[in-house]
Amino acid sequence: MTEPGHDHDDRWAYIESVRPSEGTLPPRSSGATSARSLSLNGSWRFHYAQSALEAAERADLRNAAQWPEIAVPGHWALQGRGKPWYTNQYYPFPVAAPSVPTANPTGTYVREFRWAGKWAGSGVVLRFDGVESTARVWLNGHELGVTRGSRLQQDFDVTAQLRDGTNELVVRVHQWSGASYLEDQDMWWLAGIFRDVTLLERPAGGVGDVFVHADYEHEDGSGTLRVETDARDAVVRIADLGVEAGTGQEVRVAAVEPWTAETPRLYDLEVSTRAETRRLRIGFRTVRVVDGLITVNGRPITFSGVNRHEFDPHRGRALSREVMEQDVRLMKTHNVNAVRTSHYPPSPEFLDLCDEYGLWVMDECDLETHGYVHQQWQGNPSDDPRWRDAFLDRMRRMVERDKNHASVILWSLGNEAHTGVNLRAMAEWARERDGSRPLHYADDRACDYVDVLGLMYLSVEEVERIGMRADRIDESAQHDSALDVARRDFPFLHTEYAHAMGNGPGSLSDYRDVYEKYPRCQGGFVWEWIDHGLAATHTDGTDYYAYGGDYGEPIHDGPFVLDGLVFPDRTPSPGLLEFKKVFEPVRIDIDSDAGLVRVRNLHDFRSLDGLECVWELAKDGVVVEGGLLALGPVPAGDAAAAALPAIQHASDSGELALTVRAVTAADEVWAAKGHEVAWAQQVLSASRTAQIEQDGFATTTTVPPQRAPGGDTSAEHITLGPATFRAETGELATLGPIRFPTSPCIDLWRAPTSNDIGLGQAFSQQDAWRAAGLDIVQHDTRYVHLADDVVRVEVRSAPPGRAFGVAAVFTWQPTADSVSLTAAITPYGSWPTTWPRAAVRFALPARYDSVAWYGYGPGEGYPDSSHAPRLGEFRATVRELQTPYPYPQENGSRPGVRRLDLVDGSGHGLRIKARSAFGFTARPWTSEQLDSARHTYDLVPGPHTVVTLDAALDGLGSASCGPAPLERYRLYPEPLTLSATFTSLPRP
Ligand code: GAL
Repeated sequence: MTEPGHDHDDRWAYIESVRPSEGTLPPRSSGATSARSLSLNGSWRFHYAQSALEAAERADLRNAAQWPEIAVPGHWALQGRGKPWYTNQYYPFPVAAPSVPTANPTGTYVREFRWAGKWAGSGVVLRFDGVESTARVWLNGHELGVTRGSRLQQDFDVTAQLRDGTNELVVRVHQWSGASYLEDQDMWWLAGIFRDVTLLERPAGGVGDVFVHADYEHEDGSGTLRVETDARDAVVRIADLGVEAGTGQEVRVAAVEPWTAETPRLYDLEVSTRAETRRLRIGFRTVRVVDGLITVNGRPITFSGVNRHEFDPHRGRALSREVMEQDVRLMKTHNVNAVRTSHYPPSPEFLDLCDEYGLWVMDECDLETHGYVHQQWQGNPSDDPRWRDAFLDRMRRMVERDKNHASVILWSLGNEAHTGVNLRAMAEWARERDGSRPLHYADDRACDYVDVLGLMYLSVEEVERIGMRADRIDESAQHDSALDVARRDFPFLHTEYAHAMGNGPGSLSDYRDVYEKYPRCQGGFVWEWIDHGLAATHTDGTDYYAYGGDYGEPIHDGPFVLDGLVFPDRTPSPGLLEFKKVFEPVRIDIDSDAGLVRVRNLHDFRSLDGLECVWELAKDGVVVEGGLLALGPVPAGDAAAAALPAIQHASDSGELALTVRAVTAADEVWAAKGHEVAWAQQVLSASRTAQIEQDGFATTTTVPPQRAPGGDTSAEHITLGPATFRAETGELATLGPIRFPTSPCIDLWRAPTSNDIGLGQAFSQQDAWRAAGLDIVQHDTRYVHLADDVVRVEVRSAPPGRAFGVAAVFTWQPTADSVSLTAAITPYGSWPTTWPRAAVRFALPARYDSVAWYGYGPGEGYPDSSHAPRLGEFRATVRELQTPYPYPQENGSRPGVRRLDLVDGSGHGLRIKARSAFGFTARPWTSEQLDSARHTYDLVPGPHTVVTLDAALDGLGSASCGPAPLERYRLYPEPLTLSATFTSLPRP
């Protein structure tokens, strides 16, 4: 039996088609021109229908003037019509290609514009830069054709249809179409005209397409230029180089400055005929795979990259140039040097910015058929000849539009479309048309038709095997196959790794280490740049970020769309700060024994001339000395050393920390003078511990602990120095004027991170923790001992129904104005899991909401994401300590803390001094609240400031789509001790 739906109403054949666009002009390169243009962006009339049929019957153009307005570019679902829908792999409709649901949201857009004999004698082209997913276009009642390929440029020749006076442009857009089968990327389904619409003048005798070949010869510094165009008698000029030549001619320029992502030198090139001048900003550079490595201008390069979707929390994929520029600046200032345009060509303006600011770009075609994985790839369009032209058309549209961008150094065929003849055809066409850029496609695992081995989400160990050329296509095989051997000649790029969902990713530095160790591993692209949380408002008026399921989608992938290094509003997450530190292009090592600072220039091209090194010495977090270090010129790949200055405070007591920072010496396009590119820190003195001993732990008690009736309760209390304890339970009740609503107790729990939750059920640390009852641990006081100067409380902290747990001993000792606590944690029984954390937790009244600490900060740090925080003195409110992951989860632990103050508005509160450094979190809610929250609006501040003093934490990993934390970051049950003194502030 054939499935229903293949032979229904012919009227919809254009929607359910395997064909490429119809009626469009051949694609051509983007770029500026002297020819005129008219933007049709702005307010259009709009009719929304639930189906194509409803649109055909009800969208009566005669009434269009009365229709509501809609902003173009934009998505209708973000302008109050229809709803966003998020799926990762699944198609949101039954798979029966090319048929789509009859419930097919359809928008009819109408735009009237005046055209009074403008551009006389010229042709006119109507250009759509992006329409999702298919559009039928009419001008003045004449049908122009049908667009297919949402993120691809579509041009129509409208010369014959334009008329003097008023013109009416009608665009009917359908959310679902045959083309949707090729656009199953992991993102929101958002239909509409979401990029620019423009009328372009095409002067007779103008310059149509231009293909610039600008190579750089690194052996002698020369450049070779050849410009192809379809224009007759065009002249090519580069004023800066004194070049003036005909098209098609090869011109050798004896000396050019090459383009690289680190030194993005662009030249203004003009291609002119008498009728038109095209202006391009071009770069001379040569990309080649040499001896199994991707090289640019003769040198292998390293990719510290990110995968970037186009996303704005208010406007979806309709991005303004400001937002694009914000992305590029954020990338440059966070040591990102490469972008994969996952998973479609971006707005052409983004590539202009990449050329100008300098980013290596892997331009990816708008193609993904991931939903077929759920049919075991049966019927996958990639291997079905009926779709061949559509596949080729997509590749052509990308390559032709973007071929003149210096930043684009690799073409990617698409994403997760498995493999097949149509992909091979795309590769063959691209290689033929543009042999100057290597091809990538991650599902061609044997590198059968691409030039680069790209794989996703490998463990550090797997990357290492690739580095050693010991990898196999099928890792479970016993012997190398001929294909394995052949594949090892290909360079490796980690197409996606370090899934940045929620708190994480872990192990960025471990990946960096293997990339640095093995030349074949040329780096990769973190998944991904931005969280796609849509700006929304809860019924109580609070703003939040919506994710899958929030629009009632019948099938969706929940918060899996929140996996970026920046939050939806582009605030850098702790993951991006870790990225910045780990992928510093300058490695600074302080060797205080040798009195030297060693600096390695890890750039591939740029010397360190543009940077200067500043040093500063801090004593207990306060800067006491500083200055500049002279480095001299350090070419890319080289190292240099500078002598450390004689430090005046070297013999001071207190903790001395030396920080050396490499900052920009002058303004750069992407950052102002003084921007920090890299840094290192070394703690010079170990006198801190001695200091703490003296300060807090020498017991100077004169009054032994006393039992006495409680103050405001009838319970009996124990007094110990400035503290009182509940006699029955040994719980800390007060310290001076401070009341403890919750006394210090053992805390093994954390609100699972997205990585703890894991992907599906394959690996879920969270499941193991919950199965062990770690979220419902009970605390039982076993003994309260009073000795001469000590209160000792023994507590069993264990999950119900289990025979394993933790025996904790809290030993409290008084000093003159403080009490010291030593909490010894000893696991017993047979523990089946790791621990999320090993901490002491307590609560204070919420008015203690300001925090100052001397330790690592200002941001959070976890065992496998710990490079960004540095030692210093920091302040924040409790609210500011919360990292607002749109899907709430564990966050905010500041590591290596020596001193922590929690005070109220008048500076009264608690000081905790560490004997051995601890981590801490302070929250206006409990971990249990954090655990049960699903959106930020679920987190309502309670009556307490809840504090954990973390002796240890489990690692983060990236198991939300990738490996669990490495063994060395796991927190296996083991005896641990946490010691600190508690003082009430101000000291009496
Ligand atoms: C990859 C895919 C991405 C995204 C990611 C998980 O397999 O290419 O689009 O889905 O997984 O977030």
